Amino acid sequence: MMGEKQVRDPWPEEKRGWVYVRPVGLESATTWRNVADVTNFLFDNPQVKLVVEIGANFCGFAALLIARTIVFPDFGYLGIEKEIYRKNANLEFYMASRPRCRVIWDDCFAAPVKAEVKAWVDATAGHALIWCDGNNKPEEIRQYHPFLRVGDYLMMHDYSHEKLCDENPSWQDCKPLVESGKFQIATPDYWAVGAMMFLLRKIH
Ligand SMILES: C[S@@+](CC[C@H](N)C(=O)[O-])C[C@H]1O[C@@H](n2cnc3c(N)ncnc32)[C@H](O)[C@@H]1O
Repeated sequence: MMGEKQVRDPWPEEKRGWVYVRPVGLESATTWRNVADVTNFLFDNPQVKLVVEIGANFCGFAALLIARTIVFPDFGYLGIEKEIYRKNANLEFYMASRPRCRVIWDDCFAAPVKAEVKAWVDATAGHALIWCDGNNKPEEIRQYHPFLRVGDYLMMHDYSHEKLCDENPSWQDCKPLVESGKFQIATPDYWAVGAMMFLLRKIH
């Protein structure tokens, strides 16, 4: 209406606690619930010594995991992100001083990128966790699961344990791995409702 001041809500409901999760000042497209679930899982499973994040985005979650290396120097973080403009110069500068922290600014399906991930996983004294959070999760699952060793984990974001049924496309992506007998569902009980995260563990 003429003369009426239009006030835009600076924190629209749908953005609260989701797109604008910024634990250390960089944006993560996850939820506070995801932050709690993943960091609690790592706390409960200290034998997980490497997280590979496919789709590091603005490095908001990366920065948290990189901060974890201050407390656990044998923990490592390897991110992959194809949108180079999302690089944060200060975080890159800090990572350069940490031997087990790196973001590869390239396409996760490029052969040299996959070779580097495999080398990091192979060099991990402990369990590795590959987090499929890019834009083509079915393909990430297919191309990255062969790099995992017995005891390692494959984590999928936006994959819901609650919808664990044949009609659920996300389950269809994981089902061949489980039915192969090489992976088992490892989603913690406290993720089962509302986490939108799904976890498989390599068992054979
Ligand atoms: C949903 S976001 C990931 C969110 C992130 N884990 C976080 O905490 O903010 C998906 C990201 O995957 C990236 N991406 C999509 N396809 C990719 C590819 N082929 N290689 C590398 N990164 C890719 C996108 O640019 C985007 O930043």
